[in-house]
Amino acid sequence: MTSNRRTFAIISHPDAGKTTLTEKLLLQGGAIHLAGEVKARGAARRARSDWMKIEQQRGISVTSSVMTFERDGVTFNLLDTPGHEDFSEDTYRTLTAVDSAIMVIDAAKGIEPQTRKLFEVCRLRSVPIITFVNKVDREGKPVFDLLDEVADTLALDVSPQSWPIGMGGVFEGVLDFGTDTISRPEGPSKEFLGKREADVELAGPMAEEVELARHGYPEFDIEAYRHGDLTPVYFGSALKNFGVTELIDAIARFAPPPRPQPSEAGPIEPTRDEVTGFVFKVQANMDPQHRDRIAFMRMVSGTFKRGMKLIPSGLGKPIAVHSPILFFAQDRELADTAEAGDIIGIPNHGTLRVGDTLSEKNQVRFTGLPNFAPEILRRVQLKDPTKTKQLRKALDDLSEEGVIQVFYPEFGGQWIVGVVGQLQLDVLISRLSAEYKVEASLEASPFATARWLKGSPEAIKGFEEFNRANLARDRDGDPVFMAKSAWDVGYQQEKNPDITFGATKER
Ligand code: G4P
Repeated sequence: MTSNRRTFAIISHPDAGKTTLTEKLLLQGGAIHLAGEVKARGAARRARSDWMKIEQQRGISVTSSVMTFERDGVTFNLLDTPGHEDFSEDTYRTLTAVDSAIMVIDAAKGIEPQTRKLFEVCRLRSVPIITFVNKVDREGKPVFDLLDEVADTLALDVSPQSWPIGMGGVFEGVLDFGTDTISRPEGPSKEFLGKREADVELAGPMAEEVELARHGYPEFDIEAYRHGDLTPVYFGSALKNFGVTELIDAIARFAPPPRPQPSEAGPIEPTRDEVTGFVFKVQANMDPQHRDRIAFMRMVSGTFKRGMKLIPSGLGKPIAVHSPILFFAQDRELADTAEAGDIIGIPNHGTLRVGDTLSEKNQVRFTGLPNFAPEILRRVQLKDPTKTKQLRKALDDLSEEGVIQVFYPEFGGQWIVGVVGQLQLDVLISRLSAEYKVEASLEASPFATARWLKGSPEAIKGFEEFNRANLARDRDGDPVFMAKSAWDVGYQQEKNPDITFGATKER
């Protein structure tokens, strides 16, 4: 049986229209009834939490969530990725839990830096991408230029599935190549209200343009798309509702159902009977008074039932999952099963960590959920030296959650935190103070990056003897080389060919 689940994320640069598109997708799926609710709900959520002051100050969303909706028998799981410029490991990891992605591009701006970074993460895992060129109701770049830009900057075949008939002041609608109909703007708001015109006769330069568009690009090829080599491109306006239905249909028809996931013993198929899954995100309780957390598990196989016992790989003994959070559309809130592709939120008190596998038999270990070599390293300076113990606990907790990475140097007492985005540091300081009552500041560290050491125990030991000043242990006690520069890494790698200096670490 082919699964009817589509688990996906939207990747984009801030302001391209991700929130607006999310709203419209949810509206179409009947998951929410009022436009604006996504943002409103976000605001209410933010107000509840102290440490999320940062979100308010910067007007961004630090936390990801899961939105589920249904349409024509297909269940869509949309995983939200923080959309701010300064992204974090959370975003990377969320992308390990999806089977496909929608890339939203602003028609006036083309490919922006954040889009590109996120795209690269998708490419690492061959996550197939559907492109949505948004805001065609406004003046944008010439359409051919936009397509060339996607193809050239991302080294991807592009296959337009629709075409904007004019943009901005001369916008007349979107021509869908699949059905050969034009969706037209209507009324004073110039929105798409459902009027599709068939048997369209285009004239003059527009006829030529469309002719070129239809024949000048590779045909859509589902295999090439699913391999991540080709992207179908849709044009539309999230704000004015153009192209949204076509986009949902495209996900339903083309986007892959739950894919097999890599494990130590080879790929685990979604059809496996046993319930298996992995934790891709841990979120602390929004209420700082409560120590409990929610672990977000992506289901890889099996059918999960409320109350089921699962064994976390980090623990080795079963835990009963009595009050899982199942993210369903309104009418399904009481449903209590989940299957491959779904996300379950599991409340726990710190037992579950990012990267953990959960399974019924404890025979599977998923791989591929990496820690990334931090690009920013800072020394943590305590304001009150008697709080060392609390600080250690906080750093351990927060690194388990994936907020930061922590490194304990072999020499010297000052602990080092590493992140891939500046914002993670702000979150750290704010949470240390709000939740752990630890006042700390961050100072420059002599190190520029970190590399996980892999090799035979003898090789590692030999290396350690000569490099103590540059050695640290991570949260799991694994050895890490703290490098002063990229050059340093290259130099050591050359001198120690039997050791690998890993830029990522998989748990
Ligand atoms: P983001 O989540 O990717 O950051 O983008 P968001 O949806 O918040 O959209 C950014 C701005 O672009 C918003 O305007 C939104 O209304 C506008 N927008 C989104 N889609 C379209 C579209 O298809 N056409 C046009 N013309 N505009 C679009 P804003 O004024 O910054 O925010 P707001 O105050 O209207 O919410």
